[in-house]
Amino acid sequence: MGKVYYISKNVGLGLLVLALSALVTIVALSIAYDKERSKNRSRPEEQAAVNSDTPDPTPVASKDPWDQYRLPSALVPTTYNVTLWPRLKPDANGHYIFSGLSDVVFTCHQATDLVLIHANKLNFTTFNGHHALLSDLSGARMPTIRKSWLVTETEYLALELSGSLTEGVSYILHTEFQGELSDTLEGFYRSEYLEDGVKKVVATSQMQPTFARKAFPCFDEPAMKAVFNVTVIHDRDKVALSNARELVTKFEPTAKMSTYLLAFIVSDFSYIESTQQNGVQVRVWARRKAIEAGHGDYALNITGKILQFYERYYDTPYPLPKTDQVALPDFQAGAMENWGLVTYRETALLHDPNKSSAGNKQRVASVIAHELAHMWFGNLVTMRWWNDLWLNEGFASYVEYLGADCAEPQWNIKDQIVLDDVQQVFSLDALASSHPLSRREDEVNTPAQISGIFNTISYSKGAAVLRMLSKFLGERVFAKGLSVTFILLLLCFSQAAEDTPGLGIPRTIHDIMNRWTLQMGFPVVTINTKTGLVTQQHFLVDPESVVDRPSQFNYTWFVPIKWMKTGVEQRQYWLLHKTVSGVNWVLANTNVSGYYRVNYDMDNWNRLISALEANHLTIPIINRAQIIDDAFSLTRAKMVDVTLAFRTTKYLSKETQYIPWKAALGNLYFYYLMFERTEVYGPLQAYTRKLIQPLFEYFTKMTHNWTTVPEAITDQYNQMNAIGMSCAVGMPACRDLIKSWFKRWMDHPEDNLRIHPNLRNAVYCIAVELGGADEWDFVWRMFKNATLASEASRLRSALACTKVPWLLNRYLDYTLDPTKIRKQDALSTITSVAHNVVGMPLAWNFVRAQWKQLYQEYGKGSFAFPGLISGITTRFSTEFELQELQRFKEDNQEVGFGSATQALEQAMERTSAQIKWVTENKDRVLDWLSGESL
Ligand code: BES
Ligand code: ZN
Repeated sequence: MGKVYYISKNVGLGLLVLALSALVTIVALSIAYDKERSKNRSRPEEQAAVNSDTPDPTPVASKDPWDQYRLPSALVPTTYNVTLWPRLKPDANGHYIFSGLSDVVFTCHQATDLVLIHANKLNFTTFNGHHALLSDLSGARMPTIRKSWLVTETEYLALELSGSLTEGVSYILHTEFQGELSDTLEGFYRSEYLEDGVKKVVATSQMQPTFARKAFPCFDEPAMKAVFNVTVIHDRDKVALSNARELVTKFEPTAKMSTYLLAFIVSDFSYIESTQQNGVQVRVWARRKAIEAGHGDYALNITGKILQFYERYYDTPYPLPKTDQVALPDFQAGAMENWGLVTYRETALLHDPNKSSAGNKQRVASVIAHELAHMWFGNLVTMRWWNDLWLNEGFASYVEYLGADCAEPQWNIKDQIVLDDVQQVFSLDALASSHPLSRREDEVNTPAQISGIFNTISYSKGAAVLRMLSKFLGERVFAKGLSVTFILLLLCFSQAAEDTPGLGIPRTIHDIMNRWTLQMGFPVVTINTKTGLVTQQHFLVDPESVVDRPSQFNYTWFVPIKWMKTGVEQRQYWLLHKTVSGVNWVLANTNVSGYYRVNYDMDNWNRLISALEANHLTIPIINRAQIIDDAFSLTRAKMVDVTLAFRTTKYLSKETQYIPWKAALGNLYFYYLMFERTEVYGPLQAYTRKLIQPLFEYFTKMTHNWTTVPEAITDQYNQMNAIGMSCAVGMPACRDLIKSWFKRWMDHPEDNLRIHPNLRNAVYCIAVELGGADEWDFVWRMFKNATLASEASRLRSALACTKVPWLLNRYLDYTLDPTKIRKQDALSTITSVAHNVVGMPLAWNFVRAQWKQLYQEYGKGSFAFPGLISGITTRFSTEFELQELQRFKEDNQEVGFGSATQALEQAMERTSAQIKWVTENKDRVLDWLSGESL
């Protein structure tokens, strides 16, 4: 049942007070040591009653400290002196190794005879039979090590002492060790590339979230900040980099920081540099050839602008004397915010003005803006434990749009958050198996659980909810809330506001935000323009799904309603108290600044659709996208008839803007996923062709027959939609064009400048789809020879577009051979095969057959692992497919699902919902489409 609220107008006035108390939330967001949470941590049994989540089956108290994933709080590190020596050539057994020495100084805060420090897959040199030497700084009498051992499961080195360490005294733990410089993309690892036919090896690192312990023994939790004195030993002809500035091979002490932000690199790379007005040194590093070709220039050019923007935005200077940004040939994530030494995939940092597309360029700007945002929020101010990761990643995912916008103001990039984050996460967060943004500290323990929370909810819902906060506070107030001193000042003030009763609802920003962060999901607000009633209810894509996670707020939210009437903006309300009925249309959630969907009475829907058809320009661009996206989602939730959703698309034959088109194609894609293998396919193609044809003609004209490039970046994107979709629906003019371009390239492989980079994604894919083994092999050769990673990446996705089964199967096999497909790309290659309707069953068979190996390689650490499950199962919509999924789950209980555990649950729920949806809607969709496409 929907909940009804009538809220008086003076609540709106309460906003003023709210704005002032706003900063509480941001305080709560950014203060690393939240008292409430530390209470929770020490009393998990009390928490279980309040919180709904499945409690840990084993009572924590019965375990020995070394069997628990969290460090005891007795010992706190202050300084590390670490020396690492990576060998860039294999030893006699063909292994790449590194060796290291470490002295960590820690203070005893509570007497204990147990030292626990993280260490994983390190071989220790022993001293008198023990793994370490312990000494003290003060000269007090020292207990000796009685026993030392490694704990594999929880990744510790444990030392039992002959007596207790003394409170207040500092000690030094000395270790010497060796590890493998492996190709696992985690810890201290190696990346390889060919330069002039010669293999080059780079030693590099990825510590987040729990891999610093693979490089040296450390207290590997984000709150255990310390100063690191790093020394890296390397050959004279190589360069070593770390977080701080180099002093020959030794580095200055770092700022006080978390282990997960450390980084070490030894390479043959070269760099370009610039110095900021405030003296900060900025360098961009990459393979020599890439730097020589100027591929780092764009990154260097915008880094300074973005840094300056954040200095103003946070009202805090960049905290370090230098920033290095390094492009690595092998890298698991997209980029990593190591403090002062940010690492990137090549596609996320390098740019070639002749070969990169507008999308590639935007990616570079967004990723740099994202990682640099972390230099303050995340690195300077750090979450206490991984359960608060959403703040870190959600925040960076929101402000990356502001940072990139300041570097490229003409791109209008801020609007794109609605497509790329808000609408993306809506679909996940509408599942009964979703989860709240905030997690209890004791819910997140093991490395796999930690990796699992680097997910769309943390990133995109985090970004959407913070954006909503910033929209209802105003960006200036929001940004102000971020300056550290201001936060502290307002901490006292907001407490006072919270203590004042009688403000009505909502009382404080904290109250508002708790509803969005502590309960999962989001509301659909229904506006009935006849009765003036505004109601809300938890939006579930499958209305019959059972929500078994209770919420202290009963799934109701404080919803900021910005709205307009016949094109005129109205005053914002907290859940609108009354709308005006009448003949004119009402539209709520203008510019989609709130994290909710909107439904209306049918008359208002009809008026909106008429408004779109009469003159769509009266409705803001983002809302044109929202009307389509909401209507399609409401259809899936059975709240409106399926034909209503299709009716919101009819006006598209007049639409030329990217954002509404992208939203529409995304939603139509769902119909392709569901019906591509059924008789609905033909009419669906015919209807889409009718919509897209005018857009194809529009761009044919605008680009003088595809010879020039549109000026606006959004037109450049939309031109790609036009080509991609027109060819996909089989429009001969489109297919002929592409075949001719591609043939010319095959005839002159050295000259690909005729196919504009913006269109290459679509062109390559279509050419491979329409071609055979020759085209495939040509693209494979071009992929292997590509010198720009983003070009390689397009070619790699295109290889998944063939409809020839043996080519697809051979390609799947290549993903297990790192000499063919780099490990960093294996999962996304399998997923791209699954996106192809012919490839889907092949990829599913492949994943099932290779599950054990895939799990071992990627299941524990990889951030992309959950995407493998969701990618393969997007089309699942039959009972048989659901059974297959269940079987898969049962068969692999022993192996496990690691960071994809949640994704598997989501996939099963989604499949069940899709089965029902297809059964209920297929005939109506077929009827409507057949009628329209006549
Ligand atoms: N901190 C992450 C990188 C990361 C992710 C490390 C998962 C370990 C596990 C980084 O800030 C990030 O979010 N990178 C994104 C790119 C960004 C533009 C969204 C990525 O890697 O995709
Ligand atoms: Zn991030």
